[in-house]
Amino acid sequence: MTVQIEVQPFSHGFDCEENETILSAALRQGLLLRYGCKNGGCGTCKIKLIDGDIESDTRNSFTLTPDEVEDDWFLPCITQAMDDCVVDVSQMELTEEEFLSGDTSLEFETEVAVNEPMTPDIRRLRLRIKNPDGMEFTAGQFANIQIPGTDLLRPYSMANASRERNMLEFGIKVLPGGVFSDVLSKDLRVGDKLVVHGPYGDLRIRSSHRNIIMIAGGSGLAPLLSMLHHLADKGNIRPVQLFFGARTLDDLYYLEDIQSIQEEMPCLEFIPVLSESWPEDWAGATGMVTDVVKEMLPSLNNYDAYMCGPPPMIDAAIPILGELGVRPRNIYFDAFVPSASAA
Ligand code: FES
Repeated sequence: MTVQIEVQPFSHGFDCEENETILSAALRQGLLLRYGCKNGGCGTCKIKLIDGDIESDTRNSFTLTPDEVEDDWFLPCITQAMDDCVVDVSQMELTEEEFLSGDTSLEFETEVAVNEPMTPDIRRLRLRIKNPDGMEFTAGQFANIQIPGTDLLRPYSMANASRERNMLEFGIKVLPGGVFSDVLSKDLRVGDKLVVHGPYGDLRIRSSHRNIIMIAGGSGLAPLLSMLHHLADKGNIRPVQLFFGARTLDDLYYLEDIQSIQEEMPCLEFIPVLSESWPEDWAGATGMVTDVVKEMLPSLNNYDAYMCGPPPMIDAAIPILGELGVRPRNIYFDAFVPSASAA
């Protein structure tokens, strides 16, 4: 059965086939809805149902809060229409021209410049862009790397400054049995070619006068580091606190980069938090990163919050940030879903 999706505020409609997600249907018909991961993990495609009946795959519950679900927000990348629907995409801040001009993300040919371990399970991958000439990305965005010899894509956030147009840096967690993890840790050499698609995602620093708290877990440090580079480049003077949760001392990385940003931007405070084990002489914070935030900052009135990390960290942090005074609309995050298998 084919149903009709009417898109507000543009009063434009498109067909959606049975077993097709609303996002796929829009892209197939040359229309743009903003998207990133296409699997419910990033929240980029969030829009509102005005009328009609839909069915969503709700496995990635962290991407929408219960209040948002109650209020009819949904993710078209994991949602099928059961009937004719009216949706509102105003939240995407798309112009009608962008909407009608379709997907403009590009495919880039790149070459491996660096592939080295940063921690026991996180590798630094730097890709030099060969063609077309450089990617215009916003700090906080991500790209999809195509696994060589397949059409499988894996999303990773850029960690470098967006001013480096010809280079993309990623901090990638090596997952046991992961398809790209195996390639990355065993086969990929300097000079090898990789295809990258992007940029995607709408995690970015918002202009405001508020202080900034950033919370990263595991390989979630990458987009926040890129955003810190951006803030330093802009001469930011808003106080910034970066909390980084890792299991052990060996799992901390990008420490030199953070230190050099601090030299440029002294209003940056860095709080590494170790959750599993730590040396006797460790003078820093220990425990769950979200608990440490609560202990150190009893009030977060007048803060913007940016987070990236595994879904349980994001799920734990959102209510805590709310309790401490961050307004829900000032909480921005990317939760990543590990992609270990080929599926
Ligand atoms: Fe829909 Fe990422 S594209 S949640």
